[in-house]
Amino acid sequence: MELLTATAHFIEQQFADEGSGHDWAHIRRVWLMARRLALAAPEADREVTELGALLHDIADWKFHGGDYEAGPRAARAWLCSQHAPEPLIARVETIIREVSFKGLGVETPVSSIEAALVQDADRLDAIGAIGIARAFAYGGHKGRPLHDPAIAPVAHDSFASYQQNTAPTLNHFYEKLLHLKDRLHTDVARQVAQERHAYMEGYMARFLAEWDGVD
Ligand code: ADP
Ligand code: NI
Repeated sequence: MELLTATAHFIEQQFADEGSGHDWAHIRRVWLMARRLALAAPEADREVTELGALLHDIADWKFHGGDYEAGPRAARAWLCSQHAPEPLIARVETIIREVSFKGLGVETPVSSIEAALVQDADRLDAIGAIGIARAFAYGGHKGRPLHDPAIAPVAHDSFASYQQNTAPTLNHFYEKLLHLKDRLHTDVARQVAQERHAYMEGYMARFLAEWDGVD
């Protein structure tokens, strides 16, 4: 478990100054949630799950010119530097490749229970009160308006069109966030998602009611 402690410290330092929604606070929450989900999945390898959670955003494609291999490569470099065994490195790389949402019309299957737990944990952090805050923080980072009723949401059916999207932030709720509760792999994650989803729906109803400045 030395490797986990070292990885947590390494990632905490790497992400200390990140303000775009991929901060250490996000990774820490995903790590804690993945651990919680793992309690109900005794068949999952705890170390692989936790390393996957800690390293899942190590080099996000959005911030590396669309290089999807940047994450797995950076994770491999770190784990090699710690003399982690090759099979462990390969399993963590696979989690990182499989974790991301790629558009409403794009399937994101997982090939291991550990990847399922990390993907669920990451998606839970995109919904609820924190999810709302992260969406608007991301939109602000990109200089997007909060909402524009004239721009309809799009169900992106390719990763490329999802990536090129520059729509107002409220569209992201229709294009991703409201669908996440139906795309989870584990029962515990589905339970956690219920309240977060309901909270988000209530928030959106208030947002739209206040939009015209009269309610
Ligand atoms: P994932 O965790 O599935 O890889 P991302 O890394 O794409 O998701 O997103 C990180 C955070 O930024 C999430 O909270 C996500 O909802 C938010 N986000 C991503 N794209 C947008 C967008 N176009 N508008 C608003 N928020 C976004
Ligand atoms: Ni993430």
